[in-house]
Amino acid sequence: MRKKIVAGNWKMNKTLEEANVLASEVKGMVEAEVKGNAIVILCTPSLFLLPVKNIVGNNTRIFVGAQNCSEHESGAYTGEISAAMLKSIGVPYVILGHSERRQYFGEDGALLAKKVDTVLKHSLTPIFCCGEPLEVRESNGHEALVKKQVEESLFHLDSSAVQKVVIAYEPVWAIGTGKTASAQQAQDMHAVIRKHLASKYGQDVADSISIIYGGSVSAANAKELFACPDVDGGLVGGASLKSRDFTEIAKSI
Ligand code: PGA
Repeated sequence: MRKKIVAGNWKMNKTLEEANVLASEVKGMVEAEVKGNAIVILCTPSLFLLPVKNIVGNNTRIFVGAQNCSEHESGAYTGEISAAMLKSIGVPYVILGHSERRQYFGEDGALLAKKVDTVLKHSLTPIFCCGEPLEVRESNGHEALVKKQVEESLFHLDSSAVQKVVIAYEPVWAIGTGKTASAQQAQDMHAVIRKHLASKYGQDVADSISIIYGGSVSAANAKELFACPDVDGGLVGGASLKSRDFTEIAKSI
């Protein structure tokens, strides 16, 4: 059975004090209200990973995650954070290849393949993002592009390694725009991704990989999105900054 996951991507938001408040509220609400065995991940700015982890504690359902990490092991890479550092403070998840990293920081498929390798080497779980910009969707190139993104950064992995990856499908036109993909559009793309994984690794492996949806997920649309058979949860940006909204989304799974 693949994992059900609701991950909050805080992006570059919150001060330390605000981060502490948000994490404490989310912890309290999730523990009190979210049933079932879905896991919740708080992907905070790097600076807040440790304090938020201390708030969450050794929780079996709520975890912290980083938003990026270096492809390098260590050394003269000013401003970067390594997988070993994340491991050393008990961070189990790392978002890789978010569209904002691809767009503003020039991250491409080959670089992301290296990041995936580094993260897996340190026994952390990558949350690998893929998704098409609006013009690609409008010219009907979305399936081909997303398949290519998955191939470029994941298809070098063997079956046991690829099963350790979580994939987030995030159409760029739906991120932060309030314009979410319809449940049908999300399901169609998740099925395309799963089929592509099956063509390379077989159906059993493909069926074991969690594929979560991101792009304007809200308390109002989460239930419908999460009800799709190939949608295993969500990667939530804006709505993860409010404890009540985020908890409602986590309850929808
Ligand atoms: P959004 O962001 O929920 O604000 O659209 C999602 C994401 O970027 O992961």
